[in-house]
Amino acid sequence: MVINVARPELLVRQLIDRDTWTYTYLLVDPRTQQGVLIDPVREQLERDLSLIKELGVELHYVLETHVHADHITSAGMIRQQTGAKIVYSKAAEVQAIDIAINDGDKLEIGAYSITALMTPGHTNGCVSYVVDGMLFCGDALLIHGCGRTDFQQGSAEVLYDSITQKLFSLPDETLVYPGHDYAGRTSSTIAEEKRWNRRLGGGKSKAEFVKIMHNLNLDLPKKINEAVPANMETGISFDPKRYLHEEFSMVDLHQAWQALGQDELVIDTRSAAEFSGGHVPRAKNIPFGDEGNYVAELKNYKRVYLYCRSGRRAQTVFTNLSIMGLNNLVCVGHSGMPEWISADYPVE
Ligand SMILES: [Fe+2]
Repeated sequence: MVINVARPELLVRQLIDRDTWTYTYLLVDPRTQQGVLIDPVREQLERDLSLIKELGVELHYVLETHVHADHITSAGMIRQQTGAKIVYSKAAEVQAIDIAINDGDKLEIGAYSITALMTPGHTNGCVSYVVDGMLFCGDALLIHGCGRTDFQQGSAEVLYDSITQKLFSLPDETLVYPGHDYAGRTSSTIAEEKRWNRRLGGGKSKAEFVKIMHNLNLDLPKKINEAVPANMETGISFDPKRYLHEEFSMVDLHQAWQALGQDELVIDTRSAAEFSGGHVPRAKNIPFGDEGNYVAELKNYKRVYLYCRSGRRAQTVFTNLSIMGLNNLVCVGHSGMPEWISADYPVE
């Protein structure tokens, strides 16, 4: 469905992918027909290309607000079809893009100037785009909410600063167009979010916000282990076999462990306290969140096995390390130490 939210001059189309509730935006200067597409979704490639054709848009840029975890971008394919340049924040470190944008950088379409604001916190590479009284903020600020901060180098503290110091200092009447809405809402304003945002509106302190974010306990996005590596390469030159593994259980890990070679390593991604309460013998403890410090060391192994308690932290570590360039990982994705104990395997 196409929802027309055009203001008098700059043409704005807000488009939705109902599978992931992702908003894609097409902005066009009607006088020059120059346009940009923000956060396109691979499954909606045909929809977006036919709209661009129908409106006679000369697409200059595909703007990404961040490396998405819930869907794969069509940016690479749009570039092939239209010649548009792909833009990400420099901090996102995405391969094969055209413009790595920095805080305050501007992009022109016709008479309009789009300003980039670095708004990290949901991920470390999040950028928001401001144009003509409108804010396109991806998952940094959502309507009465915000993006999660528990993977892709997210940080509740950093997100709080991005929103309260950068986005909330925009004029009150600025229209807020988010990257998602799961309740069918289409836009908000800075004034509304300052007052009614449930997580940080009404003058909530950073400590209150951090507490809310740390207690969310959300499931991982269904497609994260496919989407994040694919999006690191503009969604196009992606070979899933490099990243995805067959279902791997603690029984499989036990087999691998019995024949563990010098060039193989088992990693327990639980906390130090959980680890010292009993773990797979000879496993190394790299608590979830610390994995970034071990990339160089882990590259030396032929194979690295990851487990935790339920599989959730191991999967996140798997994704984070894959982004950082490791392709020797095998992850126990849906179980962990309790299964190992109940099978009576040795515990250290
Ligand atoms: Fe996101």
